[in-house]
Amino acid sequence: MPIVFDSEKRVFKLDTAASSYVIELYDENYILNTYYGAKIPDMGPVGREKRRPNASFSLANPVIGENGFTPDTAPMEYGCNGAADFRISALAVRNANGDSVTDIRYTGHKIYPGKPEIPGQPSTYANPGDGAETLELYAADAVTGVRVTLYYTVFSNYSVMTRRVRIENASEKVFEIERAFSLCVDLPSMEYDMITLYGRHCSERNVERRALAHGVQGVESKRGVSGHCQNPFAALAERNAGEEHGDVYGFNLVYSGNFSALAECDFNCTTRFIMGINPVDFGWKLAPGESFDTPEAVMVFSREGLGGMSRIFHRFYSNNLIRGRWKTEKRPLLINSWEAAYFDFDTEKLAAFAKEAKELGFDMLVMDDGWFGKRNDDTTSLGDWFVNEEKLPGGLAPLIERVNAEGLKFGIWYEPEMISPDSELFRAHPDWHVHVDGREPMLGRNQYVLDVSREDVRENIWRQMYRVLSENRIDYVKWDFNRNISDAGSAILPPDRKKEFFHRFILGTYDLMNRLVTTFPDILFENCSGGGGRFDPAMLSFSPQIWTSDNTDPIDRLYIQFGTSMCYPASTMGAHVSACPRTGYETKGNVAMWGTFGYELDPRKLTEKERGIVRAQVAEYHETYDLIRNGDLYRLVSPFENAYRAVWEIVSPEKDRAMLTLVTMRREFCANLTVKLRGLDPDRFYKNETTGEVCSGALLMNAGLQLSRAAERDGESCVVKFSAV
Ligand code: GLA
Repeated sequence: MPIVFDSEKRVFKLDTAASSYVIELYDENYILNTYYGAKIPDMGPVGREKRRPNASFSLANPVIGENGFTPDTAPMEYGCNGAADFRISALAVRNANGDSVTDIRYTGHKIYPGKPEIPGQPSTYANPGDGAETLELYAADAVTGVRVTLYYTVFSNYSVMTRRVRIENASEKVFEIERAFSLCVDLPSMEYDMITLYGRHCSERNVERRALAHGVQGVESKRGVSGHCQNPFAALAERNAGEEHGDVYGFNLVYSGNFSALAECDFNCTTRFIMGINPVDFGWKLAPGESFDTPEAVMVFSREGLGGMSRIFHRFYSNNLIRGRWKTEKRPLLINSWEAAYFDFDTEKLAAFAKEAKELGFDMLVMDDGWFGKRNDDTTSLGDWFVNEEKLPGGLAPLIERVNAEGLKFGIWYEPEMISPDSELFRAHPDWHVHVDGREPMLGRNQYVLDVSREDVRENIWRQMYRVLSENRIDYVKWDFNRNISDAGSAILPPDRKKEFFHRFILGTYDLMNRLVTTFPDILFENCSGGGGRFDPAMLSFSPQIWTSDNTDPIDRLYIQFGTSMCYPASTMGAHVSACPRTGYETKGNVAMWGTFGYELDPRKLTEKERGIVRAQVAEYHETYDLIRNGDLYRLVSPFENAYRAVWEIVSPEKDRAMLTLVTMRREFCANLTVKLRGLDPDRFYKNETTGEVCSGALLMNAGLQLSRAAERDGESCVVKFSAV
């Protein structure tokens, strides 16, 4: 039983494979979070101080009396605003009286097997055999009629639990939710480093580590999307935790909109961490009887450092987030037209790409931006999702026939949530873009955002997409989103509901994506937002892969892929070999291999020698496909910590195969390089497939592998594979 309730002690214990989480019900039904960490057998009450001598004008509940218990210092399970807990609140509700005091207490609970879905929102799911169990913890504010359900699902075969919250209005009057975070965790110390992923377009998800300090700190997005600039991920690691040792808590929000991940260290040197929808520019009116669901947050606990945390995220997302046909089926090796042709293509050019692509061993041609409306550059036609017959005479069918005749599948690009001011759609519906009255909205890449919070707008876009996708043989859709949202407003929302816009927009996006994946379950769907501007678990629940970055430079990609691997598995990281001149094709291939692998170049321009390399890479792709998709990742040398090289290793779940890749970013003068492998079976013997040498896993992990002569020059790389003998 992963979740147990001791009714005498009034304690809940939630056990995953490697962690325990303890919730205690205190006097007056306060709900306290008294433990989260490595697995313990005890039911509690454990360790945690509930009554702190060290208070600061802290206030007491009048019924309990001034006995030292105060919401100011108690480890509150879901901290609320206005009732003497002065730390960052997870919940604030402005009630009909105009005040925002919210004070929830336990009223009941339910424990059951499995995991429910969230209406209208993506989430992780339980498979049969996962041993997943859910606790619904009910709480209410006796004065305002705010009712809260705290959902916890634990997975007993991973060190993972998920959390989310439902708020209901059980009063007679409308109230407004001002903030509703998905999770709140109170940890007993502040001796943690916070690890987050910052970046920008073309340089996504750089790893940043900082020590927590007194006060509030954290990351957020106000861009309308999860964004390039911060990922909805944060880890709290013990100060001495490293890549492979030490306690780490990893948090990831299953949400593609404005998020906030905040830690506050208080005067008692404890830490509260909250993660959820960004309360800035958020509000939600709730009428009597209505409810609001927050997105889901995923919580991972690892004793094996950041690497251990990442491996848990990878397994969990591969098995319990990604869905549909392409979760398990081998994905086609594609060539994308963007960096090969940009907007400059026609049927003949694409057919020529397909011919070459077939000859090189690829499986699919993807026609990127530029096939619709009058689109010959980025100034026009978003919203006009009908074929540009000047480029593609007779429509898509003749092109697809020629691509299929080569034995290739065919994919297409869309940017459904956007509208060009220069488009038929805009001329017909000048109020369908995101805007506020009296202000000309900001432009991004010459485009506006389409107001997909509106049902009528979604219906129009869906009908246009449905026509193209149902009338043609299309195997793949790349769904792009190439700007952030400013001037946030919808023509149909009344003033007192304008704050709902950002969340309604994301719900609209989810609705459209859901229609796509349920109507066309065989289409392979790749998400994109100027590269990885929406690389988050919500998007992964619709699309099994995401274009990681518009930057295909293999050295820059090392940083991007190391950072992305913090919580997202290799099978999700869109990675292509391009014509980028920084390194040779070997290194470009070795880096892209640690991802979905594909090409994004004009195949007609490859030299005979390069064609030979590409053919060998295609063979290598097939040879290592299972290993890379199902294996465990070990980040042996991170480019964020070493200016000279990056080294990573992937080990099969059975520990019978391993593959190490080293890329030399800058040649080191005194390179006496030994790399210790990880994750092998110490007692088994492995053959080095490059040298033929056989030695034990123990030797490879303790003495290491001599790589001084490998990849000696800037931009060179090498791969060493091992198989158990
Ligand atoms: C974005 C994507 C690119 C490409 C272009 C097309 O930048 O990230 O891969 O699809 O749009 O305009």
